[in-house]
Amino acid sequence: MSGLTLGIESSCDETSAALLGPAGDVRSLIIHSQDVHRIYGGVVPELAARAHLTQIDAVVDRALTEGSATGADVGLVAVTAGPGLIGALLVGVGWAKAFAARHGLPVVGVHHMEAHLFGPLLDHPDLEPPLVALLVSGGHTMLLHVREWGAYELLGQTRDDAAGEAFDKVAKTMDLPYPGGPAIARLAEQGDGAARRLPRPLLKGPWDPEGTDAFDFSFSGLKTATALWVQELRADGVLETHRADVAAAFQEAVVDVLVAKTVGAAEHLGVSTIAIAGGVAVNRRLRERLVSEVERMGPSGRVLWASPRFSLDNGAMIARAGQFRFARDGGSPDTLTAQANLPFPGLTVAEFSPA
Ligand code: KG4
Ligand code: ZN
Repeated sequence: MSGLTLGIESSCDETSAALLGPAGDVRSLIIHSQDVHRIYGGVVPELAARAHLTQIDAVVDRALTEGSATGADVGLVAVTAGPGLIGALLVGVGWAKAFAARHGLPVVGVHHMEAHLFGPLLDHPDLEPPLVALLVSGGHTMLLHVREWGAYELLGQTRDDAAGEAFDKVAKTMDLPYPGGPAIARLAEQGDGAARRLPRPLLKGPWDPEGTDAFDFSFSGLKTATALWVQELRADGVLETHRADVAAAFQEAVVDVLVAKTVGAAEHLGVSTIAIAGGVAVNRRLRERLVSEVERMGPSGRVLWASPRFSLDNGAMIARAGQFRFARDGGSPDTLTAQANLPFPGLTVAEFSPA
């Protein structure tokens, strides 16, 4: 493939476009975060689709300008085809197909979570499987054994809320702004994580590789336990003074579970590289805890993540995953369309099945 890859992301509330060189080098990245949702405390799908429609021309224009390129320099268009909000996805896919048709280019539909997995590769081009990947975003929580790029074993996933979703919902109960993850992480720095021991769902005692819950997650009970604590504090008129403690204790519980299962999976499989990706991977406490746990695994152990702009929703990861998919499978057919529940390509359920 010659020329630049244009990556377009519109699955949720970020309209983003990026240009990548043939070696996966990022030439430009523009991310427009929609603020129309702020007053609703969460993403309103209809408003998201409309905002993508009004922003996408300008976002792509800026990506081209910043990359000192025109449409004629583009060789491949990569676009998020799913999973995500259907109306939002349709804007990106329709726009990408029209742009590709105008310039006579191939277009490749990309799975949003496979793209998150490729995020760390933008900062660490030497990142190579085998690895254990923790994908933690607002919509998904998945633990993968990446045998090679394109061949993924699902070790576990959330049975209810995603990790980011739990951050967002707990934040909402405390009247913190959306998205809740960054707000809770900031507050937690001044709080006492041991103020109350909140539940560690599906983690009874030390992590047990043979347990039936070994690699699955559940955050809805923890979210409810935290919300009930918030209610208590509010009823007693002391929420304001304890808000930071709630944030810290909640974050500590989420991080405990994520770290125990991720490191446990790596040790169990004898894999020394861990990659974390998705919006929650920006969480500093999660990174610190993983680093200190991985140090125990010996000198070969390492944990990698992408810088925040490549971790949160962005067009660069879409372009990078698109390059991989195009090299492997070629372009998508003309019938490419958006799919709210697009299946993860190359994903199998791990043969390893806990007792
Ligand atoms: O990957 P992403 O940008 O979008 C989805 O694909 O969902 O992830 C967004 C999620 C939100 O739930 C947000 O609250 C969470 O990532 N997030 C964080 C942090 N920054 C963003 N969660 C915890 N700590 C953070 N620092
Ligand atoms: Zn995402």
